[in-house]
Amino acid sequence: MTSQSLSSYIQSNSIPESDLLQELYLQTLSVQRGAHMISGPEQGRFLSWMSQLIKPKTILELGTFTGYSALCLAEGLQPDGKLYTLEQDEIVLSTAKSFFNRSAYVNQIIPLHGKISNSLTTLHETYDLIFIDADKKEYQNYAEQLIPKLKTGGLLISDNVLWKGRVIDKEPDRIGHYMIDYNHF
Ligand SMILES: C[S@@+](CC[C@H](N)C(=O)[O-])C[C@H]1O[C@@H](n2cnc3c(N)ncnc32)[C@H](O)[C@@H]1O
Repeated sequence: MTSQSLSSYIQSNSIPESDLLQELYLQTLSVQRGAHMISGPEQGRFLSWMSQLIKPKTILELGTFTGYSALCLAEGLQPDGKLYTLEQDEIVLSTAKSFFNRSAYVNQIIPLHGKISNSLTTLHETYDLIFIDADKKEYQNYAEQLIPKLKTGGLLISDNVLWKGRVIDKEPDRIGHYMIDYNHF
């Protein structure tokens, strides 16, 4: 929702992202279809900050895409912590894996390929931090399944719940309606 100049202002007043994250961001913008889905530097620094505040031992991310937000969230992991990230698209996941392999978190990030609904049935951990960033119509369903798996004091973050401001439109679009219901939930 930020303009390019506001975005530049925020970045110039924030701790800079790593060279690896910057490379991933620029590569995603230049070659990846659906590049607008990437969290990007401002949201990425926010996710990193939240993760560093709670120092999670276990993180679950729904929606890896090219791996940008996973790498940001991993910055707060405890040294023996793990981050599970779920993605159905093999092509974007291979990009994500190539960047995970070059990061300091190669042994901590566990990318899982497949539909979230299937992957969730195979995961039996509890989590300190959950980031929901896939398939807006399913947010509430995912949250209902995952809140019982959130540790006491854990944090659940959901991406783009204001849906570009459309949640307050007189006639919200389909996703706007999903987000309105989710925000009431
Ligand atoms: C908004 S993008 C994630 C962006 C990423 N978290 C980031 O900030 O860089 C959403 C991703 O979720 C994936 N996705 C959507 N529905 C899914 C589902 N049902 N199961 C698994 N992955 C799904 C899409 O393929 C897409 O890559």
